[in-house]
Amino acid sequence: MRGVKVDQIGGAYQVTNDLQRPSPDANQLLVKPIFGAVNPVDELMRNSGLLVTSWPWTPCCDVAGIVVEVGSGVTKFKAGDQVFGCQGVGFPGSGGAAEYCLFREDIVFKKPDHIPLAEAATMGVGNQTAALGLWGGLNIDIPDPQNLPDISEEWVLVLGGGGSVGGYAVQLSKLSGYKVIASVSTRSAGAAIAQGADETVDYKTPVSTQIAKIKAVTQGKLRRIIDATSFNAEFAKKVLEEVKDDAGEKYFTSVNDWEDFGPLPGDAKFYPISVGPLGRPEATELNDLLSKFIAVIQVLIDTEKIKPGEYSLVGETGFESFIEAVKVQSNGSAKKVVAKLQE
Ligand SMILES: NC(=O)c1ccc[n+]([C@@H]2O[C@H](COP(=O)([O-])OP(=O)(O)OC[C@H]3O[C@@H](n4cnc5c(N)ncnc54)[C@H](OP(=O)(O)O)[C@@H]3O)[C@@H](O)[C@H]2O)c1
Repeated sequence: MRGVKVDQIGGAYQVTNDLQRPSPDANQLLVKPIFGAVNPVDELMRNSGLLVTSWPWTPCCDVAGIVVEVGSGVTKFKAGDQVFGCQGVGFPGSGGAAEYCLFREDIVFKKPDHIPLAEAATMGVGNQTAALGLWGGLNIDIPDPQNLPDISEEWVLVLGGGGSVGGYAVQLSKLSGYKVIASVSTRSAGAAIAQGADETVDYKTPVSTQIAKIKAVTQGKLRRIIDATSFNAEFAKKVLEEVKDDAGEKYFTSVNDWEDFGPLPGDAKFYPISVGPLGRPEATELNDLLSKFIAVIQVLIDTEKIKPGEYSLVGETGFESFIEAVKVQSNGSAKKVVAKLQE
């Protein structure tokens, strides 16, 4: 089948006709991806080989498309349904930049009518990662999506609230009953506020200025920090140092799951966010956790409580456009970058 491949670590993206068409297991869906969104992990995998189980490898883990076939045990989906999400990365059948890819029926979202398919392609990785950080790592209760909690006086600090993961961390924190202060640059401050942030702090101002603002805004009620950028642990430590004498257990979670940050001020508990093994048969705990979170997020999306962020569509229809989209994303786009892969 047609799609994008990379033959080896550091190799070029190539559009090819020689990819093997995957076949769904009992609990899987065969999906025709229509739109694919780029994530930083695409280039990370190409450049490092991290998470790639075999070559050639096909990129694109944020997909929206149409179910064309279902496995014998699938009960919740049928051919023709529109679905989206992140099905995992690096293993055969996971790459969305191809004529077909696979999803597990418990790790996929059903597209609601009010969200266009292109926007749906931007929502999977960000939501799934943010949920893992907040509900898995910050000791935040999963909300009842039909009966959302009132907003308490407790704060979540979202470092990198201007990105995709950070933006959904802002939304999910609010929906879980927390106030939010998000670190952003000026280009994303409006978007963070639109996603529900109560306050923003400009990460380009001096650290002392940022910390003073965070302390003034949260007034002793900051116990939870999520780093949605992967490089803000030192900053998080400085904030934890400042709030360590305030009452309550402190929590820090980061998308940086490869570094050991050592003991944290105030004995804060650390949780590394690690979505990478998602969808692999051996990742049973992660798969179960995410499938539970996805069920909640699905209701929040269906009821328009979670809103997609802004995106830009790149190129003409075709797999070549995904390669172009990766370049646009790598240049530091403030918006999610999407390609239309096929009709
Ligand atoms: N471990 C995992 O399982 C996992 C899963 C998903 C993603 N990730 C990682 O999470 C990171 C974010 O992914 P993403 O998809 O959200 O990326 P993204 O949409 O490209 O967002 C990155 C954002 O980081 C912000 N930023 C840059 N420097 C900053 C700083 N010093 N302080 C605060 N914010 C800063 C920028 O915001 P402004 O627009 O405000 O300047 C930018 O928009 C990536 O490193 C990705 O690889 C890890």
